[in-house]
Amino acid sequence: MQTVQDAPALRATIRGWRAQGQTVGLVPTMGNLHAGHHSLLKLAKARADRVVASVFVNPTQFGPNEDFERYPRTLAQDQAGLAEVGCDLLFAPEVATLYPFGAQHSVSVHVPQITETLDGAHRPGHFDGVATVVSKLFNLVQPDIAVFGQKDFQQLKVIERMVRDLSLPVKVMAAPTWRADDGLAMSSRNQYLSEAERALAPQIHATLLQMRELIAKGHAWRVVEQAATSKLERAGFVPDYAVIRRAEDLSEPADGERDGLVALIAARLGSTRLIDNLLFD
Ligand code: PAJ
Repeated sequence: MQTVQDAPALRATIRGWRAQGQTVGLVPTMGNLHAGHHSLLKLAKARADRVVASVFVNPTQFGPNEDFERYPRTLAQDQAGLAEVGCDLLFAPEVATLYPFGAQHSVSVHVPQITETLDGAHRPGHFDGVATVVSKLFNLVQPDIAVFGQKDFQQLKVIERMVRDLSLPVKVMAAPTWRADDGLAMSSRNQYLSEAERALAPQIHATLLQMRELIAKGHAWRVVEQAATSKLERAGFVPDYAVIRRAEDLSEPADGERDGLVALIAARLGSTRLIDNLLFD
């Protein structure tokens, strides 16, 4: 597997593939790759002739008091894992390559409405940073398909909307959430957890399962949200939200609405913020 840092080298390799009529898949990441990321690569491999992964800790999607500085950077380890799952090319640019005018002075992509709720409300500017960097990566790689995890459900919806609304020629594909045996969704941020916090963390998934069960039993979604919030608080979390929404656009369901729902949780455990969700089918 080749690793490139700059845009001309990236484009040259992709041009070579295109000349042979090959299709290209892209998996954008911030590195510190785990089995969840690898599952996205495998899905991309199954759907495209060549697969590009990007590793870039994107400064514009972190708030001023968030973990940009301490976000784990493990490029050598990531390269080994990517080579093993059959990635063809790793794009690992410097900040100045993606933000030639500096991150604060970049043109920004804003996706309205869907970014105003949940993580968008709790992390102001976060999804502008995500939409901006993903647009840049789409422009650089010009992939046929791009794979995103359902783990970051709102992010997936923001990207889908951006692609439709900007008529971008890329097919967005969703990959299921990869979990540890105890249900905890894999995340690079799990390593911030102390041993005691790690033991509590699967409560998030357990709460999502309980929310689904209560909805299936006919409980009102607002009551289910309150029960979930209390359960998390009692377990020692500080929840940002524990909600039931329409999966399509994350709007609030009507009373009695049952189809096409998703439960989403964001909660802090000590200094670590964890998110997870569960689609009801
Ligand atoms: P990152 O958190 O590194 O995640 C990269 C991709 O892996 C995202 O699409 C995410 O949803 C997916 N992913 C993470 N954990 C997963 C799990 N347990 N199971 C399945 N997929 C999982 O998300 C980002 O980076 C950034 O916001 C990015 C899109 C790269 C833009 O900077």
